[in-house]
Amino acid sequence: MKNTLLVSLALVLSIHATPLLGQTTKLPHVMILATGGTIAGSAESQTSVGYTSGAVTVDVLIKAVPGLTKIARISGEQVASIGSQDMNNEVWLKLAKRVNEILKADTVDGIVITHGTDTMEETAYFLQLVVKGRKPVVLTGSMRPSTALSADGPLNIYNAVAVAGDTGSRGRGVLVAVNDNIHGGREITKTNTTSVQTFESPQYGLIGTTLYGKQSFFRYPFRKNTTSSEFTIDGVTAFPRVDVIYAHANMSPDLIDAAVKNGAKGLIIAGVGDGNMTTPALEALARAVRSGVVVVRSSRVPSGHTWRNSEVDDDKYGFVAAGELLPSKARVLLMLALLTSNEPLAIQKMFDTY
Ligand code: DGL
Repeated sequence: MKNTLLVSLALVLSIHATPLLGQTTKLPHVMILATGGTIAGSAESQTSVGYTSGAVTVDVLIKAVPGLTKIARISGEQVASIGSQDMNNEVWLKLAKRVNEILKADTVDGIVITHGTDTMEETAYFLQLVVKGRKPVVLTGSMRPSTALSADGPLNIYNAVAVAGDTGSRGRGVLVAVNDNIHGGREITKTNTTSVQTFESPQYGLIGTTLYGKQSFFRYPFRKNTTSSEFTIDGVTAFPRVDVIYAHANMSPDLIDAAVKNGAKGLIIAGVGDGNMTTPALEALARAVRSGVVVVRSSRVPSGHTWRNSEVDDDKYGFVAAGELLPSKARVLLMLALLTSNEPLAIQKMFDTY
C-alpha cells in the first residue's frame, strides 16, 4: 500500500513561487521544491502501516510545523509528484535545471527538496554533481506519514528549512537533513527499510547535526562537487543507459549479456566482497567491454572500498573500480561520465575525483 499511495507535499504546494506566510524580509527566503514521497501522507489511524498521501494541504502541513514561518519566508513549487521508486532521468533533469535556475536568479537563500526516501540518496548525489551554486540545497523526507504517531516529517521539514536558511551550510555541497542529522549528498545511504533512523553516512560520517533548527557543522565535502564539478546538464535531454547488476553465488552471465543486448552503455556490477563475481560473469563483463560498454566494479557490501586491480585485474579487462561509491551512486556518476567519455581510464579518474 505504501508503494501505491504516494502523493507528496508536491501536490499541495502552490505551483507558483509565491512566498507563503512570510513574516519579515529579514528572515531567509527558502524555497521548497516538492518531488513526491509520503511526507504529506495521511493514514486511517495513528498506527496504520498503510496510508493515503496527498490528503494534507500545504496550509495544514505548515501549521503542523510549529514555528516554521518564524525561521524563514517559505515559497513552494511542485516539480513532480511521484514516489521516489519512480524517480527517473527526466525528473532529475527537470529538478536540477530548476534548482540551477533558482540559484542563478539569486532570489532565495536556500532550497529544500522534499523527496521520497527510497532513492533520495541517488538524487542527492546527482544534484551534488550538477548543481551550480554554493547556496544550500537540502533534501528531506519522512519515514512516517503525517498522521502517524510521532510523525517525523514536520521536524524534518523544520530542520531542513533551518539548514537551508543557514549561511553556515553554504559550500558544503548538496545536503540531506533527516532525523536531526545533516548528511552529505555523496555519502548518505538508506540502511533500514522502515526505521526512522534509516539514513547513515558510513564512509565519512555526517556533515553536521541539527537540533530544532540549530546547526552544528563538522566538515565540508571531501570530493569535488557543485561549483567545482566538471559535470553540466546544460543542453542535456537524456542520459546513456546504465544498468546495475547484483552479483551472487552461482551467478550466470545471462543478465550481463541481456543488459548489453538491450542497449546498456554502462554497467555497474554490485560485486561480492571487493567487487568480485563468478568466472562466467567476469567473462561476460570482458565481452561487454570489448563491445564498447563501460564496466564499473562496485560492491554489494554496504561499506568499504572497491579497490582497483585488487582481486580483479582492471588494467587487463579495461574495467573501472568504484572506490567506496555504492552501486546506486556509481550508476549516477557513470551516467554523467558517459556524456563526455567512454574511455575507462578517463572515467576511472572521474571516480577517483567525485
Ligand atoms: N516509496 C517511498 C518513496 O521513496 C515512500 C515512502 C517515503 O517517502 O519514504 O517515495
